[in-house]
Amino acid sequence: MPLVTTTEMFKQAYDGGYAIGAFNVNNMEIIQGITEAAKEVDAPLILQVSKGARAYANHEYLVKLVEAALEVTDLPIALHLDHGDSFEICKQCIDGGFTSVMFDGSSLPYEENVRQTREVVEYAHARGVVVEGELGTLAGVEDEVSVDADDASYTKPEQVQDFVERTGVDSLAIAIGTSHGAFKFKPGQKPQLRFDILEDIVGRLPGFPIVLHGSSSVPQELVRKVNTYGGDMPDAIGIPEEMLREAAKSAVCKINIDSDLRLAMTATIREHFAKNPADFDPRQYLKPARAAIKELVKHKIVNVLGCDGKASNL
Ligand code: G3H
Ligand code: 13P
Ligand code: ZN
Repeated sequence: MPLVTTTEMFKQAYDGGYAIGAFNVNNMEIIQGITEAAKEVDAPLILQVSKGARAYANHEYLVKLVEAALEVTDLPIALHLDHGDSFEICKQCIDGGFTSVMFDGSSLPYEENVRQTREVVEYAHARGVVVEGELGTLAGVEDEVSVDADDASYTKPEQVQDFVERTGVDSLAIAIGTSHGAFKFKPGQKPQLRFDILEDIVGRLPGFPIVLHGSSSVPQELVRKVNTYGGDMPDAIGIPEEMLREAAKSAVCKINIDSDLRLAMTATIREHFAKNPADFDPRQYLKPARAAIKELVKHKIVNVLGCDGKASNL
């Protein structure tokens, strides 16, 4: 099966009350872990590539690795640019085989966000590629840009209809309290998402797919494992999985997860070296790391996203 766009995925996810996992990919083992998990539970996938991932692994390598995963799994997979910050990077990905791009103009003044997003949409739609836009600013770190929690802002529901109509985007990322990275809430702070804002937005955009970034749950057993085996991570708090499950039942059709994959991989590699300090064969530590990603992704698909068993409908 060739790469697909997210159009039909999102339609079925919206109607079926589940979400598709959008997992960040940076190398072969991550792609294998994610796609093997999805294959076992028959889940559609969005594999997303950030600017940093392209700089690390090279666009062509990532596209070819995803093509290999398609061939091996025969799953419906969309290849998506995560946080495109210019027309140029979106164009490169559209021309270079991606089926979906995000233009992230969330830090721009509103009218500029509309203008630049519209430009990307026109280029993308003419080539059969879909576009995710963003309104509202998430806290946290992405592509070396750090947004302090105080500078983050929730999406303004009164802007969403105008934004979607004028830009023509196919999905909209919103800020309701999720944030990038492993430190989403302060120690002692109770994790909270603004479901009232989500509900208001859904009421203004009936049937329209909503995206949640910054949706890692930061499993405490993984943080503990990192620290047990020589790490020194401060207290890290993520989004409770039951909140994501609740969001997935509504208009949220795409849930972005990266930090949890990083944690699973790092915890496993740290454990490996603590137990096998003399090892120097990369296969010996990348193999369990890949298996840990697979286990984590299977858990997310079945217990959080609810998209298991949905690939064969696409
Ligand atoms: O939202 C950002 C993603 O976690 C990607 O992170 O820019 O370090 O690749 P990155
Ligand atoms: P996390 O840092 O919560 O995994 O978020 C990832 C993300 O939003 C990628 O765009
Ligand atoms: Zn993001």
